[in-house]
Amino acid sequence: MAPQAGESMRKKLALGNWKMNGETEANARLLNVLRDNEPISDDAIVGVCVPYLYVGHTRDALRGSCVKWGVQDVSAQSEGAYTGEISARMASDFDVSFALVGHSERRTYHGESDVIVASKVLRCIESNITPVICVGETLVERESGNANTVIGQQLSVALSKLSDDQAQNVVVAYEPVWAIGTGRSASPDQVQATHSFLRQALAARSETLKNVAILYGGSVKATSASELFHQPDVDGGLIGSASLDARQFIDIIDALR
Ligand code: PGA
Repeated sequence: MAPQAGESMRKKLALGNWKMNGETEANARLLNVLRDNEPISDDAIVGVCVPYLYVGHTRDALRGSCVKWGVQDVSAQSEGAYTGEISARMASDFDVSFALVGHSERRTYHGESDVIVASKVLRCIESNITPVICVGETLVERESGNANTVIGQQLSVALSKLSDDQAQNVVVAYEPVWAIGTGRSASPDQVQATHSFLRQALAARSETLKNVAILYGGSVKATSASELFHQPDVDGGLIGSASLDARQFIDIIDALR
């Protein structure tokens, strides 16, 4: 399909989400393979969002390569007496480029509301970290015809503390809850329809947001990536389990080109 006006400015991204997986030696092997394969071209950004304890190690392993690193959450607070929390500013001290915000596993297991997500998004922007705002509906919400209402609300509240200028620096990830870790990816048509809705919602907030990158996540594999990434409103992927397998992650990155 021919690119539409303005599309050429949209970034393409493939981000790995390691979740709570990994240990020092296995991480080093995975990062070395990514580094050695330099899976990047000028028009695609690749990163891995790792557990906090391994951020320093990941930075050391990837320094000088094109692969970027990120985290999977940040505190909604800036600093202070919040035992166990890690601030966006601390993450930026480790040259973190991305932070996942509002992942459905955080929303489900840690009770993160849209308002908390909005504070986390703001904290990232204040620390020059790109927030990857995760939105997605449950199966019940999809089957009752409410998917767009749910994700539209998640998106608009997540952006509510940002100016239009600040909001240009976010990335959005559409991750239907029913597709995460289930092996059941949304179909390319479903993904395109939802991404088109999200792009219109961004443009309705401000014309300046029409080039915000929108990623798809949920059981993306090397075999399904190409068709998903070639949908006109899909700018790449947020990859969970397949990003733990270096060969498969590299094949997924290749599908982005
Ligand atoms: P999955 O996870 O690729 O393992 O489904 C995606 C995610 O949760 O970001």
